[in-house]
Amino acid sequence: MAASPRGFVLRNTHLRPVPGLEEVRLHLADEVLPLWHAVQVETGDPDAALPYWAFAWAGGLAIGRYLRDHPEVVADRRVFDLAAGSGLCAIAALSAGASEAAGADVDPFAAAAMGLNAYANGERVAVVRRDVLDDAAPDVDVILAGDCWYDARLAERVLPWLHRARDRGIDVLVGDPGRRYLPTRDLVELAVYDVRTTTELEDLDLKQGRVYALGPV
Ligand SMILES: C[S@@+](CC[C@H](N)C(=O)[O-])C[C@H]1O[C@@H](n2cnc3c(N)ncnc32)[C@H](O)[C@@H]1O
Repeated sequence: MAASPRGFVLRNTHLRPVPGLEEVRLHLADEVLPLWHAVQVETGDPDAALPYWAFAWAGGLAIGRYLRDHPEVVADRRVFDLAAGSGLCAIAALSAGASEAAGADVDPFAAAAMGLNAYANGERVAVVRRDVLDDAAPDVDVILAGDCWYDARLAERVLPWLHRARDRGIDVLVGDPGRRYLPTRDLVELAVYDVRTTTELEDLDLKQGRVYALGPV
């Protein structure tokens, strides 16, 4: 593991406004492969995870836009950002008036990025640096799940966890650009946004990001 994930994030990213959500600034990278290589060298792990945390993903961008348009969804409420990456959804929720926000991610670099990104936006995100998907639902009002459906195994575990949360009365918002494992049958579409991403990550740099509620609403 890196001596200082925080230092690594700072050295390998630039703080800049998020396209389409300029009021939020994140520590972002331009190119994925050189950064992934740097992560592998830094950790000594050839199987190190992709640096998801250094990009604002289409699903998270859609949630951020939705919260800007509908701040009442999170205003004065406690928010949990699942698979938070950069912490984009948590930070957007705080900007929209959430009373508190936590972000969970298994990647230690994501944990560092979240802390730095929250600080850069004058916010505080409680960082949960572990896998929560076998735990009971957190004690919150809203769960945000931005771009979680890119991997079959993760998708299999996320859906029942979100359902358990929904059954406990927690509102669940999903943001996604139509990834392979998106469980559309369980979701109610709320909004669609054109979101600017990058061909470093996607086939096109302009994607449609959709926001859904986990049903029933
Ligand atoms: C595509 S990124 C999305 C990041 C952010 N939500 C966004 O929309 O920009 C997916 C994130 O899920 C995280 N992740 C993968 N498995 C996880 C798990 N079991 N629990 C929490 N986070 C996980 C990855 O580390 C990665 O940061």
